[in-house]
Amino acid sequence: MKRKRYISVLAVMSVMTALGGCGMQNNFVEEQPKNMTIGISVYDQYDTFISELMSQFQSYVKEKEKDWGISITLEIQNAEQNQLVQNSQLDSFIEDGVDIACINLVDRTDASSIIEKAKTSDVPVIFFNRELVKEDLERWDKLYYVGADAYESGKLQGDILVNECETNFDKIDRNHDGVLQYVMLEGEASHNDSLIRSMTVIQEITENGYTVEKLSDEIANWNRDQAANKMKQFLEEFGNSIEVVLANNDDMALGAIDALKTAGMENSSENWPAVLGIDGTTVGLEAVEKGEMLGTVLNDARGQASGMLELAYSLTMGTKLPKKYQLIDDKYIRMPYKIATKENLGEIQVEQTK
Ligand code: GAL
Repeated sequence: MKRKRYISVLAVMSVMTALGGCGMQNNFVEEQPKNMTIGISVYDQYDTFISELMSQFQSYVKEKEKDWGISITLEIQNAEQNQLVQNSQLDSFIEDGVDIACINLVDRTDASSIIEKAKTSDVPVIFFNRELVKEDLERWDKLYYVGADAYESGKLQGDILVNECETNFDKIDRNHDGVLQYVMLEGEASHNDSLIRSMTVIQEITENGYTVEKLSDEIANWNRDQAANKMKQFLEEFGNSIEVVLANNDDMALGAIDALKTAGMENSSENWPAVLGIDGTTVGLEAVEKGEMLGTVLNDARGQASGMLELAYSLTMGTKLPKKYQLIDDKYIRMPYKIATKENLGEIQVEQTK
């Protein structure tokens, strides 16, 4: 079924302030606050984290329209995992005269067409979430990236397990061989976040003195159903030997949990492995609350959404970016990740709904 291109035009609040009235045209001072139009293309609108990021963006836009006294028009499109579709979406943003484009690249290694089109029409681009290589970002001075540091997310995921092992090692190391047997569920094959998270999580666990043994790893493309299928196969092959499930994101951790439940395992049972995710999506945090997931790492959707909008505003209006959003190398805004476990869940949930 062909998905509909959708355009969301948000609260258009027209503020026109015309000062004058003394009868002489030259004394007529016209102050017309600029409006801002942003074209956004997401790689896949059905990706849980991306859809939460977009909701955060839309709610931040509403808040800021009031604060800034301008109207902001958003044109949001779904690239449906197709780079060619995304390239032509940028064409229509340009035709529609957007001030700025925010692009969640489908293929992070294939940004050339987007960069060339943007440069030719002088439309600045804020790439987000799917980090392109530095060389591409340096091809024009009006290209930016908003996201987070993938190294940090893997390291913090490792820290959650390390912290737990410090007090509860015997509970996790169920066969008491002193080694943590794990399976890994990875995101897309060439995605920066999956490559780096898979590597740094293991580094962090081993550097903290724990020995691990990989039973298996599989790519599940950030997707819950794919992860459930992979986990079903892991369970058929390794059964109760799986002590730890490391997933590159929450949706895949939830897929693993679905498979554990389908296999008849109960969360309270001794055989339930330690399941770890990344993102801190609403459903992910709920699983932490229920004790199905040992912990997750908050991929700050609210922070990244606000960073994108603040940067778009400062570029369009020529104003200074608030200090909170440090522009590294004149190109990058990276919001920090945060550990989310049962201990600090309330705090995290409040922050994301502020
Ligand atoms: C990651 C996130 C994943 C997925 C991916 C899409 O940062 O953890 O859940 O949304 O981005 O690019």
